[in-house]
Amino acid sequence: MKFLETREELVNLAASLFHRGYSVGSAGNISVRVADGYLMTPTNSSLGRLDAGRLSFLDSAWNHVSGDAPSKEVVMHRAMYQARPDIGAVVHLHSTHVTALSCLAPSEEPLLQPHTPYLVMRLGEYIPLVPYYKPGDPNMESDIFEAAKEAKAIILGNHGSIVAGQTLVNAVDSAEELEVSAEIALLLRGRDTRPLSPAEVHALMNS
Ligand code: 13P
Repeated sequence: MKFLETREELVNLAASLFHRGYSVGSAGNISVRVADGYLMTPTNSSLGRLDAGRLSFLDSAWNHVSGDAPSKEVVMHRAMYQARPDIGAVVHLHSTHVTALSCLAPSEEPLLQPHTPYLVMRLGEYIPLVPYYKPGDPNMESDIFEAAKEAKAIILGNHGSIVAGQTLVNAVDSAEELEVSAEIALLLRGRDTRPLSPAEVHALMNS
């Protein structure tokens, strides 16, 4: 895909997330790998009102080259790409249900269990939780890096989610799937449930 088309695609997908309530105000940020670096949403920008010509462009060493100043979460995005060299895009959201899950008191139980096929197919069997860091805190880098080696979606304590995908569309689809899965997990809390069996999960992982 050409550079300009990628800019337009990012703006359109971000607006779609915003208009369906997956992000509010200026929360959330998105990055996508391009030929010689990364395009990223500028800091303090609303996903609903991005300007394709003002997206931040960073070179492959993550130096800001052009466009508006990049998101304060550059370190978080960089850690995802470094842990998973196969990915092409990263979406960070403060969507309501994932963020609610991320604020629950710590427990031995995973926040999300494999209840539905698409959770497993899109995000894998296990979604790690990284403890709270102030947004933009560079100290989160090694925790994100280690978690991303195990999973392409991570829940950020008291904050939200970060999700990787091979393409922008994949990353957005997976971020939406994570949000809906979090909503389902909250609906199911305190009830007897039937998670998918290990054999059912295994069959999905290899499909
Ligand atoms: P930016 O506006 O710097 O991208 O930060 C928004 C955000 O979601 C912080 O976690």
